[in-house]
Parts: sequence; structure tokens; C-alpha cells
Amino acid sequence: MKRNKISIIGAGNVGGTTAQRLIEKELSDVVLVDIEPDLPKGKGLDLIESAPIYRYDSHLIASTGYEETAQSDIVIITSGIPRKPGMSRDALLRVNIDIVKKVTEEVVQRSPDAILLVVSNPLDAMSYVAYRVSKFPRERVLGMAGVLDAARFQAFIAMELDVSVENIQAFVLGGHGDSMVPLPRYTTVAGIPITEVISKERIEAIMQRTQDAGAEIVRLLKTGSAYFAPSAAIVEMVVSILKDKKKILPCAAFCQGEYKVDNLFVGVPVKLGHGGIEKIIEISLTSEEEIKFRKSVAAVQELCKTVDQVL
Ligand code: APR
Repeated sequence: MKRNKISIIGAGNVGGTTAQRLIEKELSDVVLVDIEPDLPKGKGLDLIESAPIYRYDSHLIASTGYEETAQSDIVIITSGIPRKPGMSRDALLRVNIDIVKKVTEEVVQRSPDAILLVVSNPLDAMSYVAYRVSKFPRERVLGMAGVLDAARFQAFIAMELDVSVENIQAFVLGGHGDSMVPLPRYTTVAGIPITEVISKERIEAIMQRTQDAGAEIVRLLKTGSAYFAPSAAIVEMVVSILKDKKKILPCAAFCQGEYKVDNLFVGVPVKLGHGGIEKIIEISLTSEEEIKFRKSVAAVQELCKTVDQVL
């Protein structure tokens, strides 16, 4: 039987935790790559040494090069640098464009049939970099953001109502972070729209907390950003692809006319299966939702102008 192979580029917090989740579930062999020479080796060894206790036989290869990534089924890109003191958002964007460009060039020549799952921020713009550089069909380039944003929304709703998280289905659209658009109308508790069980004011507050959830964690951690929930979100997407589950999940996808968005990555519900994005699901929006969504699209558009200048 052919073993699944997933390469993770960037062995930082998100990359390392994703590797852990994937091999603990024996979903695939994992190749962990980082520009820092010893980091992937250290994390790799640590994970290999956990295997006898947790009892998994997935293989883990750590590397600073790309040879070992050849013929990956999925490549997860988490490489990037965080904003340093005094660094403008634009300067950070340019550095991360360069990193994602180089990484994409390296991986696509060795894994021409892979699905690229982008995690590096700013997510929608980095997904666009990977799409343009790889020249892959749009079905095989997607970004992880919506599953994480929806999970945060779900967690806060479950806390509010003191019910199981399993009862909550949440819906988010738009770009990742500040400009995301949670949709309470399509968000349910055991099938009941939350608009019927939570007051308008409390929903507003929960939506705001969801939008700020990444920043809330950065403030608390002080060094670094979230990685438990991001890696869990990545694994949910990976499972849907590897097992061809065809789950409907909110992902950053390259829209070509859907939601009246032309040639831009934006968070939309997609059907995720073995070939990647099988379908972008379109839903109708109220005028208020539409306004928020357009604002989100405009924010992504601005960033992608810089990508087009640099590439
Ligand atoms: N090639 C390979 N790895 C690289 C490169 C490169 N050119 N440049 C940077 N890296 C590596 C860094 O050495 C670091 O180990 O990417 C890793 C990023 O890890 P962290 O800084 O720990 O960041 P993390 O918390 O994992 O987040 C990764 O996901 O959620 C997003 O905003 C987040 O963009 C960030 C990404």
C-alpha cells in the first residue's frame, strides 16, 4: 500500500504541532523542513522518540533541503517571519512574499501533483503567491483560515451557552483576521440558528472576539502566536483531502467569478476532497453581510497589488 506523504515547510510552532498531530493519527509520513538547520532535526527526533509511547509507525524525516519532499501528496507551507519591532506591515509582507515564493518554487518542482495548503500570513495574499508561482490549477492551492476562524467562533458560542462544542456549526466568510465575516444567520446550535437563542448584543460581542481571537492569544503568549487550534484546523482539512471525505469547509480559495470576486483568494465554503477543491459553494448574503464581505475582499485586493508588484 502506498503511504501518504505530507511535507511541512516551516518547523516552527504551527509546523511542529501539525507534524505531531499528523503522525500521532498515522495519517501520513511527514517531512519537516526549515531554513534553521537544527530545528526540524530537534523536533523530528523528539517526535520519533514519542512514537514508542504513543505507538505510531508514521515516519518522520527532518531536513533543511527539499530532496526528501519529492512526491508529496500535500505540502503545508507555514514558513515566514513574524513582525519585528519597528517593521512596517508592508515590509513584513514583502519579506514573506519572498519566503513563500522561494518555498513554492522548491516544492513544486519535486511534487508537481501535490496539493498546496498555505498557512503563512497574511494568509490570502500568501495563498495567491503560491498559486501564481506554482501555476497549479486552482483546485490544488488553498489556504487555511476559515476552519480556524469558525472553530474559534464555535468555541465562544459553546462557552456562551454552556453546551457541547459538537452541537455548534459555524459559518464564516471573507479574509482571515480583522476582515473576516462571521455569519450568525448560518450558525446553529443543534440545528437552531444562534440568532434565536443568543441576544443580538451578545452575538455582536462574540463576533468581535472571534475577529480578535488571534490577537488575544498573541497578547497572552507574548512571544509568538496561536498554534494548537491552527494545527487542528490544518489537520481537519488534510483528513478531508486524504480520505476524500468531501467535507464542506471554509477555506481560502481562488475565486473566478464566485461571489462576484475575480481572481482573488478569499475565504469561502468549499467541498474538499481527494483532488483538493471540488466545488466552491455559493450562498446568498443579506445587504449588510454583503457590505462586510466586500470590505474584506477589498482588504485582500490591496495586499495582492503588492504581490503583483513583487512577483
Ligand atoms: N524556508 C523554510 N523555513 C523558513 C523560511 C524559509 N525560507 N523562512 C522562515 N522559515 C521558518 C522559520 O525558521 C520558523 O521556524 O518558518 C518557521 C515559522 O515558525 P514560527 O515563527 O514558529 O511561526 P508559527 O507560529 O509556526 O506560524 C507560522 O503561520 O499562523 C501563521 O502567522 C503565522 O505566518 C505564520 C505561520
